[in-house]
Amino acid sequence: MKLLVIGGGGREHALVWKLSQSPVVKKIYAAPGNAGMFGMAELVNIPHNRIHDLADFASRQRIDLTVVGPELPLSMGIVELFQKQKLRILGPSQGAAQIEASKAFAKRFMQQHHIPTASFMVFDDPYAAKTFLRSTAYPLVVKTDGLAAGKGAIICEDKEEARVAVERMMVAKEFGTAGERIVIEKFLEGEEVTIMAFTDGKTVVPMLSSQDHKAIFDGGEGPNTGGMGAYAPTHFIDERMMQRVQEDILERTVAALSQEGRAFKGILYAGLMITESGPKVIEFNCRFGDPETQVVLPLLASDLVEIFLSIIEGELDVSNIQWRDKAAACVVLASEGYPGSYEKNRVIAGLHQGKAQDDEVFCFHSGTRWDKTHYVTDGGRVLGLTALGKDISTALARAYQEVDKIKFEGMHYRRDIGYNALSRKRSQSNVASGH
Ligand code: AMP
Ligand code: GLY
Repeated sequence: MKLLVIGGGGREHALVWKLSQSPVVKKIYAAPGNAGMFGMAELVNIPHNRIHDLADFASRQRIDLTVVGPELPLSMGIVELFQKQKLRILGPSQGAAQIEASKAFAKRFMQQHHIPTASFMVFDDPYAAKTFLRSTAYPLVVKTDGLAAGKGAIICEDKEEARVAVERMMVAKEFGTAGERIVIEKFLEGEEVTIMAFTDGKTVVPMLSSQDHKAIFDGGEGPNTGGMGAYAPTHFIDERMMQRVQEDILERTVAALSQEGRAFKGILYAGLMITESGPKVIEFNCRFGDPETQVVLPLLASDLVEIFLSIIEGELDVSNIQWRDKAAACVVLASEGYPGSYEKNRVIAGLHQGKAQDDEVFCFHSGTRWDKTHYVTDGGRVLGLTALGKDISTALARAYQEVDKIKFEGMHYRRDIGYNALSRKRSQSNVASGH
């Protein structure tokens, strides 16, 4: 089979790696792809938002299966466009992608279908929003309605912080049209977890749970990013909790979307808060998460192409999806200044082009470029160093060993990825040993 993977981040590098393991795959193209895919995929210079050019390419090259990484082309209707041309593609319809593309839509949808989430209000007018802020409880979260690359949610401790957030979104328009409408919602206390699921629109099969680290600095300080590191599986989702997530959130969502004529075949990403009263949805995405995919896919034992084909055929079957009995951790190396502005073209030392990866240690590229002699930085998130181990602490130690091999000017990373998991483990062993 000939495959096309759309996107060019760490998530797509992980996808290309996993898809390339399938015996049915003859060739993979990646548009635009990235420099780390050398030897696994041929790069095609078409940006992910040029959906008509992508369809022309897929049709000319007779691509057998297209896999979409980022949300933007899905929200633009790439799935319908490909289907009209009889091209096989994995992803939700444009109507279903609204669950990520509009937070106001997602919140109202959850309210209507009794899917647990934080209470909220939607505003189109900054004066009405600011009036509401005078008489509500804090902390709360102010969010842009539209897509903002994971940076459109601001946690506000008091009225003044919330007023500034509303001002930045609706008046200064820092997030462009994404912030013309906003959602203000209750702050949820608890442990955050990502559950991604395969779905063919009827059957829903959750992947292993994972945890992202969204803030730029250690201890969760500083602004939110696309994600600075992750590990999988998490320790706080037991079978009973997973059952609740499966029934009350994932299956209810997919069934309700389908009832509304919004076909969802692809990856449903649920960002959850595990609160005292159970799991609640913080956000839905209509695609694989990044960096979560960089830890979850290396743990998948089954053939991903087979899974994708079964989704498209409407024959997804849980018994065809197996996981390795290991843990994985990923540490993201970012450019100084990210998630704000940052310099590019810094030479990356310690990376070797075409270096073979084993199946326990991976260097997934997010924002790199090969300048014919060196790899140089080319984005905010530059690399994701992922390692597997028998447990989270072994996986983390190996991932940080890989981090030590890489250097570039202004390299920034969090030193506390998996901290929660490790401190939980320490406190459990203290209890066991009577401390
Ligand atoms: P979102 O863009 O909705 O995914 O929000 C980004 C991040 O902000 C989440 O991953 C959480 O860490 C945090 N966050 C968003 N909404 C809430 C909430 N209602 N309560 C607590 N934290 C939240
Ligand atoms: N890591 C969060 C996301 O992919 O949206």
